[in-house]
Amino acid sequence: MVVFPPCKINLGLSVLSKRPDGYHNLETCFYPVPWTDVLEIIPADSFEFSSTGNVIPGTPEENLCVKAYQVLKKDFELEPVKIHLHKIIPSGAGLGGGSSDAAHTLRLLNEKFAIGLSQQKLMEYAAQLGSDCAYFIQDKAMLGTGRGEILSETSLSLKGKFLVLVKPDIHVSTADAFSGIRPATPHRAISEIIQYPRQQWKGVLKNDFEDTVFNKHPAIKRIKEKLYELGAVYAAMSGTGSAVAGIFDGEIDVSRHFLDATTWSGSLE
Ligand code: C5P
Repeated sequence: MVVFPPCKINLGLSVLSKRPDGYHNLETCFYPVPWTDVLEIIPADSFEFSSTGNVIPGTPEENLCVKAYQVLKKDFELEPVKIHLHKIIPSGAGLGGGSSDAAHTLRLLNEKFAIGLSQQKLMEYAAQLGSDCAYFIQDKAMLGTGRGEILSETSLSLKGKFLVLVKPDIHVSTADAFSGIRPATPHRAISEIIQYPRQQWKGVLKNDFEDTVFNKHPAIKRIKEKLYELGAVYAAMSGTGSAVAGIFDGEIDVSRHFLDATTWSGSLE
């Protein structure tokens, strides 16, 4: 069976408070983006994991797809499988690619072995693998709170809008990004701001990580500014970076403006 795990962007990201467990309480809106990896799971004589495409940081044992298999195997009888991941979504981009691969591994195994886990149960397993992993159990825009794993519905739709993603060759350490943050409760909740007309999002719908990350990596800030120069209705860094997303009303070819970066563009669903 082959599936195509998508990535996400964050529309607004507020870091609200530091928790006793070392994590932070957040508020964000996750929006799905059809830039996908390719994940195949087939029966095998012994467990095997392989990957092609972009080089994945870490060892195969550390791969979130392997961890997803192991977390289910602890509780259920699973036959050995061969998992093959073709990596297209850039890592270290704030796009949740690894989390999506893990969530889709759980979904595929649940289906393949007829385990019968509910969406809620799948989300609980996913949350053990990463804070934004539970989001990828569903395929739609959702508001995220808690560590990012508490999800609720939103009516937000950007269907037909044109999205440009620019991922520079810059690595932002997640730990660094969080350590530079002073958590605070913002004036207005993201759940409220995303209801405003998109033309009013600029400067209001904020990613709290931008200040510290832009300070350290001004090149990422310049990408955001360039996307606005090119006519974006809204532009922001996704997650802890380094990818920047620009939302346009119509199709645009930006590739010649970002020659040193990996870009993706397409219509949102
Ligand atoms: O959960 P995940 O593995 O994606 O988190 C990576 C790191 O990001 C955590 O170890 C933690 O330092 C930080 N983090 C956090 N608060 C969150 C999510 C992540 O502090 N809500």
